[in-house]
Amino acid sequence: MPNAGYPEAREAIAKKVSKEHQFRVFAENVVMTVGAAGGLNVAIKTVADRGDEIIVIRPYFAEYLFYCDNHDVTMVPVDCAPDFSLDVSLIKRSLTKKTAAVIINSPNNPTGRVYGRKELFDVAELLAAHGAEYGRIPYVIADEPYRDIVYDHARVPPIMDICPESIVVSSFSKTLSVPGERIGYVAVNPKAADAARLVEGMIMCNRTLGYVNAPALMQRAIAEMGESTVDVSAYERRRNALSKILDAVGIEYAKPEGAFYFFCKAPGGDDVAFAMHLKDRGVLAVPGEGFGYPGWFRLSYCVSEATIEASAPMFKKAMSEWSAS
Ligand SMILES: Cc1ncc(COP(=O)(O)O)c(C=O)c1O
Repeated sequence: MPNAGYPEAREAIAKKVSKEHQFRVFAENVVMTVGAAGGLNVAIKTVADRGDEIIVIRPYFAEYLFYCDNHDVTMVPVDCAPDFSLDVSLIKRSLTKKTAAVIINSPNNPTGRVYGRKELFDVAELLAAHGAEYGRIPYVIADEPYRDIVYDHARVPPIMDICPESIVVSSFSKTLSVPGERIGYVAVNPKAADAARLVEGMIMCNRTLGYVNAPALMQRAIAEMGESTVDVSAYERRRNALSKILDAVGIEYAKPEGAFYFFCKAPGGDDVAFAMHLKDRGVLAVPGEGFGYPGWFRLSYCVSEATIEASAPMFKKAMSEWSAS
């Protein structure tokens, strides 16, 4: 019979999440999953019925659309503010009686934004007020696989402490740089009104979605990992190196506070054409269109410093030929 996972792994995650969120979470609140991707699918299937709605913040991680589709749930994109922070008034306008959850991804892929405590408090308050009116408080699903990768003393606020009806989804794909091992988890806020039922639902969904359980060997490994993380200073050096290259050629971007992406303005406004132009000159970029945000493109600096340095002449060539064309 499948269960929520190896007890020592769940205990280790409960300890980790309790520390990160300054809030006591117990092993029985944790379900081990096949990465954050598996965790998001399990969380969505558990909290939403067919025809329900899930709000995501645009630009959004492209896969959310497919995850919602998997469960016949409508993804409702809500624009962020111009500085990529949360626009709570826009979230308010998009809530309906069918809203099952709001997915909050911080640090954000693709913008690198880390949302502040006040923004999250405002969202929690808004959802509680909505629940009081409609009899159903939408959950915050906090998608946090980049939580440990933050710069310049940024801190990801503790959503568990801020919002009782919250579910944290995360993984070790980025924190330990092991995306292929497919080890992640869902932690349900013990204060959520239906905490025990949510965990039961997630165990069932993990099984019926065909994951059954998270990879057993990796569950044993992460139980022994303590507080290990990747060396964030290596990402910080890469971020700084790439920002110098972008500054030198006049590409505008939002300086990442976390994760390992630059979200940049496409010169001329056509993100697909500009990404193709970069590709032909040796630089791989993802058009903003895929994140629901045309006119921008994403660069990843999850590559070696040598690769970043080697891209400088490519950007230079690409920009001079783009301006000339
Ligand atoms: C925002 C976001 N959520 C979830 C995931 C899925 O991560 P995992 O590899 O743990 O499934 C990713 C992976 O890139 C991501 O960027």
